[in-house]
Amino acid sequence: MAFINMTKLGWILFLFMSAVSATLSYQFIIKGDTEIAADGRTIILLEESERAFFLNEMRGFLIAVQQIIDGIEKDDMQQIATSARKVGTIGFASVPKSIVGKLPLATKKMGFATHQAFDQMAMDAESLADKEHTLSQLNQILSTCTACHSLYRLR
Ligand code: HEC
Repeated sequence: MAFINMTKLGWILFLFMSAVSATLSYQFIIKGDTEIAADGRTIILLEESERAFFLNEMRGFLIAVQQIIDGIEKDDMQQIATSARKVGTIGFASVPKSIVGKLPLATKKMGFATHQAFDQMAMDAESLADKEHTLSQLNQILSTCTACHSLYRLR
């Protein structure tokens, strides 16, 4: 009898721990630290310094977009490659660890894809030197920028 109760207790504990770990995984990996805004977008809740880092990264993206378009206009593939590489995956090492758990999984995916796409653009600009190709890559990247902006904001 006591054995059965211990087994039952074991299962109850197991299920409880599974529920806790599922909740934590959902919180930290999928949902991040978020709230829903009045306009329907998801608000990512960051500390002041993390927010500053995030927005600085964003302004870096916009500078890169401007420099890349300038490079396309001037037919300067090297400028395109240099500007794109600056916002590629090279900056990952400097991302504050504390931000990572607060960002919803979908934003991490979109952010990662964006940095990788800039790396690809830089490589292609050097190897193919095809402006039309750069422009089509930029078009694709910008659709990810606008997709993320329509779904998320910060506070
Ligand atoms: C993973 C999601 C995501 C992606 C991808 C993304 N952004 Fe953002 N961006 C945001 C969020 C969230 C904000 C804050 C908006 C708010 O709070 O209203 C922001 C803000 C900005 C800002 C304002 C910066 C400031 O100082 O206020 C600029 C500029 C910007 N993004 C440019 C870009 C460009 C250009 C791209 C694509 C190359 C891009 N973003 C891709 C999420 C993203």
